[in-house]
Amino acid sequence: MTLQAIQYSNGNLAIIDQLQLPHVEKYLTIRTSEEGWHAIKEMRVRGAPAIAIVAALSLASELVTLMASNELSPNAVDTQAFITEKLRYLVSSRPTAVNLGDAAAKLQAIVVESAKLPESTGHNVAAEFIKAAEAMLVKDVEDNKKIGEYGAIWVSRNAIPANDSKATILTHCNTGSLATSGYGTALGVIRALASNNILRHAYCTETRPYNQGSRLTAFELVHDCIPATLITDSMAAALLAKTDTRVNAIIVGADRVAANGDTANKIGTYGLAVLARHHGVKFLVAAPLTTIDLATKTGAEIIIEERPASEVTMIRGICENSNVDSCETPQVQTVCTAAKGINVWNPAFDITPRTLIDGIITEKGVAEKGPDGVFHLEDLFRG
Ligand code: MRU
Repeated sequence: MTLQAIQYSNGNLAIIDQLQLPHVEKYLTIRTSEEGWHAIKEMRVRGAPAIAIVAALSLASELVTLMASNELSPNAVDTQAFITEKLRYLVSSRPTAVNLGDAAAKLQAIVVESAKLPESTGHNVAAEFIKAAEAMLVKDVEDNKKIGEYGAIWVSRNAIPANDSKATILTHCNTGSLATSGYGTALGVIRALASNNILRHAYCTETRPYNQGSRLTAFELVHDCIPATLITDSMAAALLAKTDTRVNAIIVGADRVAANGDTANKIGTYGLAVLARHHGVKFLVAAPLTTIDLATKTGAEIIIEERPASEVTMIRGICENSNVDSCETPQVQTVCTAAKGINVWNPAFDITPRTLIDGIITEKGVAEKGPDGVFHLEDLFRG
């Protein structure tokens, strides 16, 4: 059974509550864009593609309900204005991942066109929105499968030495089924390597402060029976220095890739890229085209979200002696680990300069720098 973070059918949306994972698998119903906004802001759903899709589908669910109860304006322009306002609101939930803004812009263009059609009604405009939002859910999984295939081919050709046949991969944060509509980006490449029997071992970082690695990636790796080991973020250098465990590539996801290839991703990614360069290990970014932002020229223009201090000073989990096999749902608790009164800086992402990136794996293939040392990402959008 594949993990399904987002369940959607005919206007009914439910998401797995990622704040409770891996201890409790509980789905939350999302009926409105307000509920979608809160689920994204509170990180009940996270990961660049997943937040875009949940935002779109939360509004689709709201529109389905409004249509069923005859509460939607029959006027096409009024409905378009209603959708525009809701999209603007949804985009305000988290600033760094471009997928959310990209999805909103595409959906906005669709409703504007629909409202312009002669005799268009509010119902027609809403129906076009819902169709397009539902298509995004399907397309994201298809794109991730292609990313997995292209990435696995690139790794076997460029990262595995001639005297070996399998790859050991290190990944950061969570980029799997929980961060997307399904399968995943960087974790999708690991899945593809595993299913082609080219994966020797995967390592995942804990990913402090939010522990997307130890809570979510580890959960997915165990779920799929992929041979894997968890390390804390501070162990990565020691792992890359080990001669008996040769890491062949570090593969991460992205929240926004600028036109020049500079990449915003989970805090800690930049440090891993520096380590990879020092140790001669390939460093790859796996992301769909919806994560590439040609309008942002370099990483310096990307807004980095800063999150609450409590995410650094506290940690969530279940008590060590909780009986996870008992019928009772374990209680997820929060404990304080830092000295009271200490100042905290909590940037959720960092920027990895393009110079440290060997390739950007997309559903259109793997972009590499040209002889000029520059990524030509605009080429991916042609044809
Ligand atoms: O703060 P998060 O958990 O939303 O951050 C997620 C990441 O940084 C992922 O690497 C990125 O969104 C890619 S997910 C396919």
